[in-house]
Amino acid sequence: MLSRCIVSAALVLSFISNVQGELEWIGDSFLPKVVAGGTILSASNYSRVDNVQYGSGKGPTPEELIGNVTEVLDVAQLAVVRFPVSGGSSGLNSSLYLNISQHANRQLCAPDSDIVGAIMFHGTNTLEETAFGVDITFNCSKPFIATGAMRPDTYLSPDGRSNFYQAVAAAVSPASRNRGGLIAFNDKITSIYYSTKLNANTPDTFISLMQGNLGSFLAGQPYYFFDPAFPAGRPYFDVTNTTELPSVIILYGHQGFDASLMYAAVANGAKGLVILGPGAAQLSPNAQAAAKELFARGVPTIAVARPVSGTGVPGPYPGPIFYSSYLGPDQSRIVLQLAINAGYSLDEIRDVFENPLRTAVYGPQPNAEWYYAAANATS
Ligand SMILES: *[C@@H]1O[C@H](CO)[C@@H](O)[C@H](O)[C@H]1NC(C)=O
Ligand SMILES: *[C@@H]1O[C@H](CO)[C@@H](O)[C@H](O)[C@H]1NC(C)=O
Ligand SMILES: *[C@@H]1O[C@H](CO)[C@@H](O)[C@H](O)[C@H]1NC(C)=O
Ligand SMILES: *[C@@H]1O[C@H](CO)[C@@H](O)[C@H](O)[C@H]1NC(C)=O
Ligand SMILES: *[C@@H]1O[C@H](CO)[C@@H](O)[C@H](O)[C@H]1NC(C)=O
Ligand SMILES: *[C@@H]1O[C@H](CO)[C@@H](O)[C@H](O)[C@H]1NC(C)=O
Repeated sequence: MLSRCIVSAALVLSFISNVQGELEWIGDSFLPKVVAGGTILSASNYSRVDNVQYGSGKGPTPEELIGNVTEVLDVAQLAVVRFPVSGGSSGLNSSLYLNISQHANRQLCAPDSDIVGAIMFHGTNTLEETAFGVDITFNCSKPFIATGAMRPDTYLSPDGRSNFYQAVAAAVSPASRNRGGLIAFNDKITSIYYSTKLNANTPDTFISLMQGNLGSFLAGQPYYFFDPAFPAGRPYFDVTNTTELPSVIILYGHQGFDASLMYAAVANGAKGLVILGPGAAQLSPNAQAAAKELFARGVPTIAVARPVSGTGVPGPYPGPIFYSSYLGPDQSRIVLQLAINAGYSLDEIRDVFENPLRTAVYGPQPNAEWYYAAANATS
């Protein structure tokens, strides 16, 4: 079994390759160009049914994966970009997505770029964080597609190869443009903006519960259910020159919540907080009091709904606690880090999180009348 995993890049190197700028292209030079970045697949040295203790086997490199899924070279020519990471995806931080985003913007968004899209292969544990960080810092209409594998490559029926093929097929499809970043995984396409890993073990794990699937793969080809649209209110941050981000801490609200943790986080250097509040992001009274005090000191707190689906809803008037508007805790943390880094004021940060939802809920009649009755009466 071990010999299956020890592979050479010879097969890949036998394909026509040509060097262009900093990228080396593999495959037929008449096909559309796709940049493939990311980490290697996992492999197990225990058995073909092991999907629990496979971290230490030697998996294929991206080049070897292309050699195992040569069909990708019938749809695209590929350039592999390696991003230095060590260990599994649980140990990663924002340095990775800042680096990937800077590369992707430089290579895909330049006016003269002939690259049609990018795919990112990533460990699934924190895929949603790296992907989200790239999504809201990537400034063009070309597809950025994240994918990965839930099963080790040594499994009886591994999922990584199929996911890889589908991600490449999505990256070359013009129908994938102008949608924001996408996740291609397990025969389905979802928006990075709204997706989270919902199952710790099964291949059907990247789900966007409220917003649903954008499309499906049939015979390897993407079929979109809707015409292109960007997620509502999706912000954009320029990270061309960013290498570090301010610390933002996530806390989990529960019965008996200890609000001193909020002050402790700030004393430890946190510049903002994200708190999961039970129900529609209802922080406990002590957490609300602490959030108000920290707000007065210039430290924002984002309240996120603790249920895996749904959202906290901002009040009709701006307040000292900001509601995340359907963004999950990991995603809210990344937006808050980027907004603080960009020098946004507290009001501007609140607007990024709340404005589209507040306008949608309280703007139209009759809600405008009901919720702003006092203001209307005096005007
Ligand atoms: C698998 O590899 C790891 C190190 O890479 C080793 O510790 C472990 O004993 C190996 N297991 C088997 C069954 O060979
Ligand atoms: C994957 O490709 C390598 C060559 O890069 C080869 O040695 C190996 O047998 C292939 N594995 C499968 C399962 O096709
Ligand atoms: C960013 O990625 C490139 C490879 O594409 C690598 O050479 C460089 O070391 C990376 N920088 C950081 C800070 O990780
Ligand atoms: C690109 O950046 C500009 C602002 O610098 C922004 O208005 C625009 O929406 C961004 N485009 C995309 C696709 O993110
Ligand atoms: C990034 O740094 C370069 C070089 O100092 C500068 O020209 C450019 O305007 C900066 N871009 C942003 C968005 O700050
Ligand atoms: C991220 O992790 C890498 C490797 O452990 C480290 O070199 C880097 O400084 C970290 N970056 C941040 C922003 O913490």
